[in-house]
Amino acid sequence: MTDLALLQPLEIGDLLLKNRVVLAPLTRSRAGQERLANALMAQYYAQRANAGLLITEATVISHQAIGWLESPGIYTEAQTESWQQVTEAVHAQDTPIFLQLWHTGRASHSSFQPNNQLPVAPSAIAIQDDDGIHTPLGKKPYETPRALETDEIPGIVEDYRRAAHNALQAGFDGVEIHGANGYLIDQFLQSKTNQRSDRYGGILENRYRFLKEIVEAILTVFPAHRIGVRLSPNGSFNDMGSPDYREIFFYVAEKLNAYDLGYLHIVDGLGFGFHELGQPMTLDNFRPVFDSPLMGNCGYDQDAAEAAIQDDQADLIAFGRPYISNPDLAQRFAHGWPLNPYDDMTYWYSGGAKGYTDYPTYSESQAS
Ligand SMILES: Cc1cc2nc3c(=O)[nH]c(=O)nc-3n(C[C@H](O)[C@H](O)[C@H](O)COP(=O)(O)O)c2cc1C
Repeated sequence: MTDLALLQPLEIGDLLLKNRVVLAPLTRSRAGQERLANALMAQYYAQRANAGLLITEATVISHQAIGWLESPGIYTEAQTESWQQVTEAVHAQDTPIFLQLWHTGRASHSSFQPNNQLPVAPSAIAIQDDDGIHTPLGKKPYETPRALETDEIPGIVEDYRRAAHNALQAGFDGVEIHGANGYLIDQFLQSKTNQRSDRYGGILENRYRFLKEIVEAILTVFPAHRIGVRLSPNGSFNDMGSPDYREIFFYVAEKLNAYDLGYLHIVDGLGFGFHELGQPMTLDNFRPVFDSPLMGNCGYDQDAAEAAIQDDQADLIAFGRPYISNPDLAQRFAHGWPLNPYDDMTYWYSGGAKGYTDYPTYSESQAS
């Protein structure tokens, strides 16, 4: 059972991961209006500390970054302190935990923003999605964001640096920069959402500049191997997908290679929406251009994950929905135990312990 490739340890710099199973970043909206971590969240993460690495839910780096109800923050002193109970509970089980840093950009709404201003983005292009966005005022259509002025961008880079500094204070082992799923960094990278004519738009080098500056700012806080970057080259979530997706995501992976980061996290699976603009980009595409650990995600079950590690397509596989409903996921893999199904009605807005901390471990389900 322990000869599974998925359950072999991995060293990332001075971090020892006890296995290759990662808790994917999962927004669960249990942080309340003050966007503070709490005891229930500490319990939820501690329950999943059987993973080699935990990545937290996306956590906003500033007031302007907010675009989701009751997601946590890391920009105030109270928020920073509130996370300590989470890192302590997870470290008690010798598991490292990275905080995912988030700015939603155009995937926000004025009702979340300081002084009810419009959300910001690289360009004034609205998300086309009839479904709209959950806001403090109820479900609303997406608004056309305000294009950032060039001289505002260093301030946002500084927000990322300060958030990383707060994460370090809170006891996190590292941070994951959320460059995926159509949020602000992805909006800068992709031609569909970035039509700027300044040094942050146009050619690949310019569209990558915002992410590059963020990585370099965070390198003043954490060593390179304590920083991960998440990208979703195939995704259509948040109305993404650009004709030149292959060029930009190869470019980014190649450039990031220079830093010797902890890992590159690619949402390679198509289960969260595929833009269908060509062949999906695979882990095999990224392996030759990126030398540090590679993490795959989306739609993996145990067999697919085991094959990806065995075939050396990836070093780590992140699990999202399977980890929501199976707090003991790595143990279930080790023993070949069946998985609990997940209930998507309790992902976000149901609140409380239901569908959050009340999924039984395999042993608990056998005892009852
Ligand atoms: C409830 C829920 C919340 C999510 N929140 C985040 C998030 O905060 N940050 C992020 O990068 N991805 C987020 N995702 C995407 C997941 O990390 C993951 O890519 C997706 O669930 C596919 O992986 P899976 O098939 O293992 O579930 C979320 C997905 C779900 C279902």
